[in-house]
Amino acid sequence: MHQETRSQRAIRLEDRHGAHNYHPLPVVLERGEGVHLWDVEGKHYYDFLSAYSAVNQGHCHPRIIGALTGQASKLTLTSRAFFNDVLGEFEEYITGYFGYDKVLPMNTGAEAVETAMKLARKWGYLRKGIPRDQARIVMCGGNFHGRTITIISASTDPDARGGYGPYTPGIDVIPYDNIPALQRALEHPHVAAFLLEPIQGEAGVMVPHAGYLKEAYEACKARNVLFMADEIQTGIARTGKMLACDHESVRPDVLILGKALSGGVLPVSAVLADDEVMLCIKPGEHGSTFGGNPLACRVGIAALEVVKEEKLADNAERMGQLFRKAMQELVDEFSFVKLVRGKGLLNAVVIEPRKDGRTAWELCLTLARNGLLAKPTHGDIIRFAPPLVMTREQLDECCTIIRDSVKAFA
Ligand SMILES: Cc1ncc(COP(=O)(O)O)c(C=O)c1O
Repeated sequence: MHQETRSQRAIRLEDRHGAHNYHPLPVVLERGEGVHLWDVEGKHYYDFLSAYSAVNQGHCHPRIIGALTGQASKLTLTSRAFFNDVLGEFEEYITGYFGYDKVLPMNTGAEAVETAMKLARKWGYLRKGIPRDQARIVMCGGNFHGRTITIISASTDPDARGGYGPYTPGIDVIPYDNIPALQRALEHPHVAAFLLEPIQGEAGVMVPHAGYLKEAYEACKARNVLFMADEIQTGIARTGKMLACDHESVRPDVLILGKALSGGVLPVSAVLADDEVMLCIKPGEHGSTFGGNPLACRVGIAALEVVKEEKLADNAERMGQLFRKAMQELVDEFSFVKLVRGKGLLNAVVIEPRKDGRTAWELCLTLARNGLLAKPTHGDIIRFAPPLVMTREQLDECCTIIRDSVKAFA
């Protein structure tokens, strides 16, 4: 009789009992450590997704897990109805770390983006004098900021958006990486904010032209518009600097963080801004039961400490250079490998979909069989984003796996 494997069982259960809102690679993971993952059959993989850049510090980092377990047996949640003894410490630490007056802690990335959008509207009414309910937020085509109704109202991806209207008004979508389009959009006197990803991750690691962030920031300043950076995927050392905006010495008026803010241990997100902006939100106007809970705060402090102490930004920069060099060799050698782009350890390789219909998905299956997990996007793009703790030796081994897989695919 056919004996179901543990992987088959896990996949069957998800398929039978879970909503079908994802299409995962057929790999069932059980354990992680640093850059390594193991599936339920004990097969080893290198992680080249890092849970969409949430696990920058590596899986189950002992320091972060120590903070988690230490706090877990003491106090996990009070809600914001009372003070707790960790939130203030976290707030002092993170505002000092990134150089802002204030922080507003939330949980998921989407919640932090929603928070920033509310903040922008409120600032627009209180400080810029935009007439009530008329505030506009400018966003970019190809964006990905999460899955709520308001956020997908700004999406240009038919899968994310189609069939989920009516949409939230007050959002103007302009082409990404296009300063004239931004300048035109900012002419409207009711624009409160420009919200963007410094590099568009989900769109396929779209890196704008050098100078774009700076020019966009200055265009915003000229029009008294808030520059809001969604660094949920690009921030916390991923692109070779603490923030992707640091590459152009731009300090966003509103900084949005998530994912690696907990090292992938818990949903922890945050919005940072100075008093002039943040104090526009008054008690009772915004919050979340779990936002700023003591467990998240302890984990958040440890996660940020690890990034600094282990110099993960520098490592991401160095490993990223080596990775792109190795991938460029593949581009030069194999005609179906079109190009590599990225910054630090946020990179993508674009392949030409083949005539026999084999796409990035199949190449990712080959990579998985050879022990490396990466995720395709848009059929022809593979994103490569390993944990930032990757060593030179590990990276070399991974580049060999990718080369062998590409060769087998060709
Ligand atoms: C740039 C960006 N913003 C927001 C989000 C949404 O974060 P979450 O899935 O935690 O809601 C993501 C997730 O991939 C993201 O990449």
